Amino acid sequence: MISCSNVSLVLGGKEIFHGLNLAVPPGSRMGIVGDNGAGKTTLFRMISGEVHPDRGEISIPSQWRLGYLPQDLVEIGGSSLMHFLKEKAGIASLERELSDIRNRLSEMELPPGSRRSLLDRHERLAHAYEAGGGYGFEALAEKVLKGLGFRDGDSRRSCGEFSGGWKMRASLASLLLGRPDALLLDEPTNHLDTESMEWLEGYLTSYQGTLLAISHDRRFLDKLTRSTAEISFGKARVYSGNFSDFLTKKTRELEITEKNAKRQEKEAARALAFIERFRYKASKASLVQSRIRSLEKMTAVETEDASRRVSMRFPACPRSGLDVIRVVNVGHSYGNSEVFAGLNFSVKRSEKIALVGVNGAGKSTLTRLLSGEEPPSRGKIVLGHNVRTAFFSQESAKNLDYGHSVWNEITNAPSPCTEPQRRNLLGCFLFSGNDIEKPVSVLSGGEKSRLALLKILLRETNLLILDEPTNHLDMATRDLFKEALLGYGGTIVIVSHDRDFLDALVDRVIEIRDGRIFDYPGNYSYFIEKRAESLAREGSGICGENSGKTCPGGLTLREEKRIEAEKRNMLYRNRKKYLDELHPLEAKIGRIEDRIGEIDLSLSDPSTLSDSSRIRNLLLERSDLEKKLLPLMQRWEELMEALDQAGSALQ
Ligand SMILES: Nc1ncnc2c1ncn2[C@@H]1O[C@H](COP(=O)(O)OP(=O)(O)OP(=O)(O)O)[C@@H](O)[C@H]1O
Ligand SMILES: [Mg+2]
Repeated sequence: MISCSNVSLVLGGKEIFHGLNLAVPPGSRMGIVGDNGAGKTTLFRMISGEVHPDRGEISIPSQWRLGYLPQDLVEIGGSSLMHFLKEKAGIASLERELSDIRNRLSEMELPPGSRRSLLDRHERLAHAYEAGGGYGFEALAEKVLKGLGFRDGDSRRSCGEFSGGWKMRASLASLLLGRPDALLLDEPTNHLDTESMEWLEGYLTSYQGTLLAISHDRRFLDKLTRSTAEISFGKARVYSGNFSDFLTKKTRELEITEKNAKRQEKEAARALAFIERFRYKASKASLVQSRIRSLEKMTAVETEDASRRVSMRFPACPRSGLDVIRVVNVGHSYGNSEVFAGLNFSVKRSEKIALVGVNGAGKSTLTRLLSGEEPPSRGKIVLGHNVRTAFFSQESAKNLDYGHSVWNEITNAPSPCTEPQRRNLLGCFLFSGNDIEKPVSVLSGGEKSRLALLKILLRETNLLILDEPTNHLDMATRDLFKEALLGYGGTIVIVSHDRDFLDALVDRVIEIRDGRIFDYPGNYSYFIEKRAESLAREGSGICGENSGKTCPGGLTLREEKRIEAEKRNMLYRNRKKYLDELHPLEAKIGRIEDRIGEIDLSLSDPSTLSDSSRIRNLLLERSDLEKKLLPLMQRWEELMEALDQAGSALQ
């Protein structure tokens, strides 16, 4: 059994644990949950022996092998991925020794005594090799790698060639192959796509050892865990049942607490009224005194931790041109392997686009190309007028400088914000007091993500390119970030496996499949529906591009295509008509909005405040402009809707 008894720990002046107790019986399947920065990762680091508690004790059966997957990106070494896995499993050294002995045994002039002892040693090692699963290792390793999304042949590639996320997966593969008695997984799903996640869930379902998993992923926890430990305010509290059961229990607890708080409020109000009414009546003096005493005894029932309320809002976006990105004949390769070729698409102002595709399809690569982090191998990517890009990726070391403190990181970020504004934003993001002085390197996973996102918020951008931005964020922060993105006025291109998130946010989905792109003008559910239809069509072969078959309705494919082309031409003509009206209309709206902005600025200027006739004139002008703006905006909305419809029909 793993047990933590009465554990206390202070890090960087902050009390992380205070008398924490936790017992994990063998064979447990426990989810560890809690807000960002609550101490979950620190708990794992204590169990694995990396960090020692200031007080209290942690015990683990001495013969147990622990497999610990840390939250942060890991470095892996080795000439090839297979070699790395063999090293980790202790197979590589046995293989080396065995081959060494075989070489020596082939030497002709070996004295008989040495030969015998070498043969004995060979037998012992061969036995250990067999017992350690050496003979079936490569086959098993290939299976695990495949499950985690690696492609055929990847096991022979050098470790250095893999990106951070893939190194993480390699390290997960090595843990699973090590047959540990207890597995400690810190946010394992952050680095996996849906298919690999499903594979891992399947694998872990049949895992017999003790499983401890930190995750903010409800589905993952629900499938795998049977109990849940919540880390909060330096302590751990265990609930039976999976994450959903935990949430139900917490909600019930919260309801009871709120009810108690309300009841107490009422009691206090009644007592106060009584005191007010009878405080000067000698006959009621003792009753008044007893009410005062009971009021003093009441301790406030805490209903919600106010400090947890975060609000995030993006600053107003500078306006970009209507064309934000144009991707022209773009192809990209790494070495000899081609990720995609001949990509052509464009992104318009204010579009919210999800990039989807299976693992290895090239989503992250495309985000890097779009953001200019990497030039494409072929073709070109053209940014439109006044486009200001911000790029966020979990894997990009450029997000944060680990040598800086939190405050340095924020003061050095290019931004129009003043120092007090920056401090204020830091507070909104739950960095206050001592936290500001912390080096970035010690921040928890969620804190690092929050800081990197905050740096993006500081900048005046109108194009956000986000690669899995919500990983590591706890649920409350994730929801707030979603809200902030929903209110963002600029253009968004996002990769995420959080389906609910995408559904609420995006209005277009671009799928990368087999090195090509497929465009879906709708939200994520629309994409799933259309994708299923197209897969069914591909499967049946009916009406495929080159099938030459007759489609339902008796038309030949060629006739169908001609009618389709005519329809498209008409739609294009309409679209052009709308666009011709839209562009000057937008320019007009822009001029009026700019003038309103100037008026607002003047109105808040202290020198204007003393001049009442100027204020009146400004207000009159403002209200005139608002009146002019109204019909223009109505027409703009009509045009946008018509264009949307024409666009959808064209897809
Ligand atoms: N070496 C350190 N020095 C100072 N503070 C530290 C150190 N290590 C961790 N902390 C702080 O301790 C707190 C707990 O960190 P921990 O990484 O355990 O959180 P967590 O629960 O895993 O959060 P998340 O969900 O964001 O991963 C954080 O506020 C972190 O900044
Ligand atoms: Mg953590």
